[in-house]
Amino acid sequence: MKKVGVGIIGLGPRAETLLASLKFMTEGIAVTAICDFKEERIALLRKKILEAKMDAPHEYRDYHRLIADPAVDAVLIPTSWNSHLLIAQECLAQGKYAGIEVGGAASIDELWQLVRAAESTGVSCMMLENCCYGRNELMMLNMARKGLFGELIHCECGYLHDLSDMAWREPDKERTIHNRFRNGDLYPTHGLGPIAKILRINRGNRFLTISSTASKARGFAAAAKAHGMGDVTYNEGDIVLSVIRCANGETILLRHGVSLPRPYSRCQLVQGTRGLWEEDAKGIFIEGISKTEERIDSAGNPYTVHTWDPVDSFYEKYDHPIWKKYRDKQIGEHGGMDYLTLSAFAEAVREHKPTPIDVYDVAAWMSVTALSEQSVALGGQVLPFPDFTDGKWIARKPEEPSAWALDEIFEDLQR
Ligand SMILES: NC(=O)c1ccc[n+]([C@@H]2O[C@H](COP(=O)([O-])OP(=O)(O)OC[C@H]3O[C@@H](n4cnc5c(N)ncnc54)[C@H](O)[C@@H]3O)[C@@H](O)[C@H]2O)c1
Repeated sequence: MKKVGVGIIGLGPRAETLLASLKFMTEGIAVTAICDFKEERIALLRKKILEAKMDAPHEYRDYHRLIADPAVDAVLIPTSWNSHLLIAQECLAQGKYAGIEVGGAASIDELWQLVRAAESTGVSCMMLENCCYGRNELMMLNMARKGLFGELIHCECGYLHDLSDMAWREPDKERTIHNRFRNGDLYPTHGLGPIAKILRINRGNRFLTISSTASKARGFAAAAKAHGMGDVTYNEGDIVLSVIRCANGETILLRHGVSLPRPYSRCQLVQGTRGLWEEDAKGIFIEGISKTEERIDSAGNPYTVHTWDPVDSFYEKYDHPIWKKYRDKQIGEHGGMDYLTLSAFAEAVREHKPTPIDVYDVAAWMSVTALSEQSVALGGQVLPFPDFTDGKWIARKPEEPSAWALDEIFEDLQR
């Protein structure tokens, strides 16, 4: 197998968790270069790379030099949010695949620039949206494509994660600063990416409009005050709700909440005419499979009771082929999702193929952040999504067959 030379720009905690998967992938990937502004982060990653018995990479403080390094075929970009798109554009211009970490866009214009860079160079930019390779997300894709939910009508998703301690633990981290100064869905893609794939966004469907509303903001400020930081103002509403309408008539409810106490959830729900999956209920109901009882109430009127089946009772039959292969060997962080995502990216680079999450996906998913901010600022006004495909979504060529495909499922290609 030809080894893909990978450079990593941005050596924060996320680079460390990526490395926790990359160290198991040395047959197909070599980390040839690393880059950060901060010398201490370079030193830490160098140490971890050497401890993992990987070859010493080239080291840079200036990302332009890393991108130009001939030992680098593709670039992973786990920098903080505002630099992903600018760095990715430069990678494409130099003919190198870009794998950007998750986050949202600051403006619609920077997304158009990325789309034009990918179109003019023919080089792919993938968002490393690991949740697209989550076991349940892929099983729901499989079940949706097999028609178990019937015609899809409505989906829900989001990012609900108590990160309020960022306010006092990491007040200077870029993510904390975004929460101080912005107000919108700052982190849409963990929930929305898998749902967009299930709804065939950019291949026969697209996001049409969005309307967003934010609650008042209390969580971060309370956490900061409780830890002696005085009165700090945070703009980000504790809960931001967005409703997206799709060209094929489906609705999506998207939630973002990172400053109130609660267990973690991506609150996914996929509802079709025959049934649904609801992450928080840990359940699936499918007409004809799950239990439905007809009962009579005390007034003698008939009513129907639908009963959840546990999600794990569907694994044996409906696990996505990727998970049928990997379920017994979960490698790396995030339950193996990172390893699968990096494998998908590396295969596309090695074979010079389009990535399973492409530039149109990146643009549509990341635009939610910029659009939701505008909608919140305008009191929930409904805003149109740009069509980043320039009409190609109506009749795009089908996705190239691949074991890692996220639009269709190619069982016979699982190796
Ligand atoms: N997919 C996941 O499950 C997951 C999990 C955690 C974080 N993330 C994402 O990973 C990214 C990084 O997260 P983090 O917590 O490590 O962020 P961080 O802000 O702590 O670290 C970013 C690092 O990038 C460096 N950097 C920023 N701009 C740079 C530039 N232009 N040139 C060189 N170095 C630069 C910074 O110095 C810092 O060391 C974010 O986009 C985050 O949303 C994804």
